[in-house]
Amino acid sequence: MSPSPPTPRAADGIYLESVTLVRGGRPVFDGLTLALREPRIGLVGDNGAGKSSLFRLICGLEPPQQGRVLVHGCDTRTARRELPGRVGLMFQNPDDQIIFPTVAEELAFSLTAQGTPRKDARQQAQDFLAQRGLADWGPRAIGELSQGQRQQVCLLALQISRPATLLLDEPFASLDLPSQARLAAQLQRTPQQIIFSTHALAHVQDFDRVLWLEQGRLRADGPGREVCAAYAEDVRQRTVAHA
Ligand SMILES: Nc1ncnc2c1ncn2[C@@H]1O[C@H](COP(=O)(O)OP(=O)(O)O)[C@@H](O)[C@H]1O
Ligand SMILES: [Mg+2]
Repeated sequence: MSPSPPTPRAADGIYLESVTLVRGGRPVFDGLTLALREPRIGLVGDNGAGKSSLFRLICGLEPPQQGRVLVHGCDTRTARRELPGRVGLMFQNPDDQIIFPTVAEELAFSLTAQGTPRKDARQQAQDFLAQRGLADWGPRAIGELSQGQRQQVCLLALQISRPATLLLDEPFASLDLPSQARLAAQLQRTPQQIIFSTHALAHVQDFDRVLWLEQGRLRADGPGREVCAAYAEDVRQRTVAHA
């Protein structure tokens, strides 16, 4: 995809400063420093490299044991109330994200989390769906939606809260080709900063910036074409070595 994203302002962005994160008793990141300001950033790397952990750090689900994470000027450890307006995460598995039994309730929750009164939130959720030709989705039971539809609910729940940065964790992983094309078009129309992880390198290779994580360290950080080519070549060499 070739997005036409907005120009970021200098004060915007995400900054990790000497971050150490321990999960399950083992360090995932050990002194990671990273500034993320580009409007589109891809994240690649093997399973277990730390992609999801990085997203969980940025959206405040995991506090760092050392260092700090600033999201558009907010420290994730202290600015709990401001954080939902600045960053939102779409989980890889929609069932890890969705809490409520209907689509309208799930979308409304994105707004009440930011302080919108419940009644207003329900109305805004319904209006939001109607603007997208999805008015009949409001009362639908989450349990009766397909995986792709549940994932779309997750993206809608993220978009309605309009965070400055959207983090998408392997958003294309379980989608069929039409759903992938639909999602790619939706992302292209999204004006906010988007950072997303993927194993489908074609989705990020035209980005100005792609990060390659390897065992919690930045193995490469640069233009999508170069980083994706280097990662693909590394995978090829490892495959040959173990064949
Ligand atoms: N739920 C968890 N509990 C404890 N440790 C975890 C958990 N999930 C991941 N980890 C650890 O974090 C490391 C990075 O995992 P993760 O961030 O999920 O990688 P990726 O998303 O790139 O596959 C893993 O090697 C694992 O040791
Ligand atoms: Mg992951």
